[in-house]
Amino acid sequence: MTETFAGSRYRIERELGRGGMAGVYLARDEELHRPVAVKVLAEHLGDDETFRARFLREARLAGRLSHQNIVQVYDAGETDGRPFIVMEYVPGGTLAECGRLPAPRAVELGLQACAGLQHAHSAGLVHRDVKPANLLLREDGVLKIADFGIARAAETTRHTQVGTILGTAAYLAPEQIAGEDATRASDIYSLGSVLYELLTGRPPYLFESLAELAAQQAEGVILPVRDLEPAVPAEIERAVMHALAHEPRFRPASAADLAHELGASTERPTRPLPRRRFESASGRRSWWWLAAAIAAAAVAVILGLVKLGGTTSSSPPPAPARVKPPARGQTATDQARNLARWLRAHSR
Ligand SMILES: Nc1ncnc2c1ncn2[C@@H]1O[C@H](COP(=O)(O)OP(=O)(O)OP(=O)(O)O)[C@@H](O)[C@H]1O
Ligand SMILES: [Mg+2]
Repeated sequence: MTETFAGSRYRIERELGRGGMAGVYLARDEELHRPVAVKVLAEHLGDDETFRARFLREARLAGRLSHQNIVQVYDAGETDGRPFIVMEYVPGGTLAECGRLPAPRAVELGLQACAGLQHAHSAGLVHRDVKPANLLLREDGVLKIADFGIARAAETTRHTQVGTILGTAAYLAPEQIAGEDATRASDIYSLGSVLYELLTGRPPYLFESLAELAAQQAEGVILPVRDLEPAVPAEIERAVMHALAHEPRFRPASAADLAHELGASTERPTRPLPRRRFESASGRRSWWWLAAAIAAAAVAVILGLVKLGGTTSSSPPPAPARVKPPARGQTATDQARNLARWLRAHSR
């Protein structure tokens, strides 16, 4: 490894780590006077023309992304026939080193990963290899997703070591294991696997070979998070198990949706203050009395109207008839005859 490359722009200081297909170095950008991380493809991969071209293509695509939860790609090129990517240096470690975490911390990291993924997915990029080693944790607690799209370049080569595949496979979605193309839903599954491991200390499936993993995934039985770690809130378990659905269409529809499911459990339920609750209860009581009084008044008015309506609708009562007394007679016989007539006239 030369001390400087890309002319003399980047000066290598030390190795930061080594993966299945590249070495990563801390370097100094002599132009912009800042530390950078440089990923240089392993020598044996440099011979593969297709791989080299794809590696650089993916780096350029990733270079379009700009988000605080994604490692920024600054530059890409070739040195001595070996492709390299220059990216933001993230001092700290990766999630592969942090072991099991308390649920609130795991959720907080998960929400940052969701934000980065959502940004990339909205820009049309799928990561394909979301795993703890690709989730860098800066010293100040900011999570950064590294290696966007690089896994796509690796698909074109047969050089990828079996150990690397197995290390990654624990987080791969069933459709990826089955050889299908990765989608946004595959990234969501992988993040679900990472969260499962952060919460429980182990990945969703324990296996010795890819065939064993595929068989277990086909069975689809994952030990619920709370069986392993009962202190994890039920809502968090639900969100993680949702992301781990075997069928892509049964997973959260987006990284933002997964974030919502994870975030919903951290929100406190809204409770009215006790005093307000009392006031509203007594208020309800007085309203009840007022309503009862209005109803009683309404009934009285209606009854009155009905009564009034009954009298006004029929004809007025006949005025008392003026009855003339029987006519007097000259004699007692005449008076008796007049009285008989009067009685006949006024009896019915
Ligand atoms: N931008 C960066 N800033 C600081 N350290 C980094 C950066 N990128 C990678 N590293 C370190 O380099 C290590 C190796 O990274 P690399 O991507 O090559 O391998 P990997 O992700 O562990 O596995 P693989 O690439 O084989 O799937 C990481 O684990 C991390 O510690
Ligand atoms: Mg990596």
